[in-house]
Amino acid sequence: MPDDINKKYLPYGHQSINEDDIAAVVDVLRGDWLTNGPSVEKFERAVADYVGASHAVSFSSGTAALHGAMSAAGVSPGDYALVPAMTFAATANAAVYCGGRPLPADISPETLCLDKNAAASAAASLAGASVRAVAPVSFAGYPVDIEFFRELAERIGAALIEDAAHALGARRGSRFVGQDADMTVFSFHPVKHITTAEGGMVVTNSASYANSLRLFRSHGIVKSPEEFIRPYEGAWDNDMIELGYNYRLSDMASALGASQMTRLGKFVARRAEIAAIYRRELADTGGVSLPPDHEGHSYHLFPVTVSANRRKEIFGALRSFGVGVQVHYVPLHLHTYYRREFGFREGDFPNAEAFAAGTMSLPIYPGMTDDDAIFVSDKLKEILGKL
Ligand SMILES: Cc1ncc(COP(=O)(O)O)c(C=O)c1O
Repeated sequence: MPDDINKKYLPYGHQSINEDDIAAVVDVLRGDWLTNGPSVEKFERAVADYVGASHAVSFSSGTAALHGAMSAAGVSPGDYALVPAMTFAATANAAVYCGGRPLPADISPETLCLDKNAAASAAASLAGASVRAVAPVSFAGYPVDIEFFRELAERIGAALIEDAAHALGARRGSRFVGQDADMTVFSFHPVKHITTAEGGMVVTNSASYANSLRLFRSHGIVKSPEEFIRPYEGAWDNDMIELGYNYRLSDMASALGASQMTRLGKFVARRAEIAAIYRRELADTGGVSLPPDHEGHSYHLFPVTVSANRRKEIFGALRSFGVGVQVHYVPLHLHTYYRREFGFREGDFPNAEAFAAGTMSLPIYPGMTDDDAIFVSDKLKEILGKL
């Protein structure tokens, strides 16, 4: 039995909720609007202003937001979306929802993000076919080299969608992630930088994309006279001009999000402090590699890698000490669905596979103490030392 049996469980990620957050949600519950009310716009404005984008359109999840972005990009049956082989399935699923096909490319072991050469060759290999979206992921919070992908997207006539589900509050120099892609997608799942329980958002500087996204998330129905294509009949009238969904974020969730946004800077700073503790404590430890560093990293995850044939043992030992490590992710192309439907095979994307075989994400979230991070590091060193 481990001697630290009474130690608290440290999950790999956890939300931070305070009394202001609770009061904000309760206010909505006492008010008139549970959905489609003023908190939605307030939250959208807060995110757009924070990251420096002109428009923000909230969605019921990051996945729904990605679906909206792929649709706004024009991904249609037969089109491709360029995605990294190492990501959560939702990045590619969003293109498949639109009838599109994923075009995975390998990751760079240096950044854990879409590899530039691999992406360019994947796009070139499809000369003639239509790649409608280039969708790099700022993996773990490491801001992907967006300028490179912008040029690539422009060259092949695709929209650039940054999947920044991991990267709210991440920076490239002085620019927050959210300013540089055609559309940038965030997720507000509880393990992310801020939460709305479930929720997501697309930020963009394009009024036209923002309009498409708003239509898409609310049935494709217009209500204002100026949006009508056919004659407007009166105050009762509405017209469905596109096929849309109900992907709206509620007022309760938006109020929580707006309240959380006031602490985003602190959350990201605390994540960076925890990452710095791991880097200090694990710097000279054999048998473990640390994730790539970047001054604008927002550390949604802290994925370390160990020897692939020891991962299961190390993972299990950490869990037995109450350290809730988790693996991010099974590579996209190795999921049964993607193998079956698109014919991907083991060996297709070796960097993604090598990373996936040895990785595990250490706990990182704002509510962790310095001692928690030292405890995790000590346990990892102890386990590695006994191998
Ligand atoms: C890279 C990436 N994209 C998209 C999503 C989907 O976000 P959500 O869980 O809010 O639907 C996630 C969720 O973890 C993710 O990690």
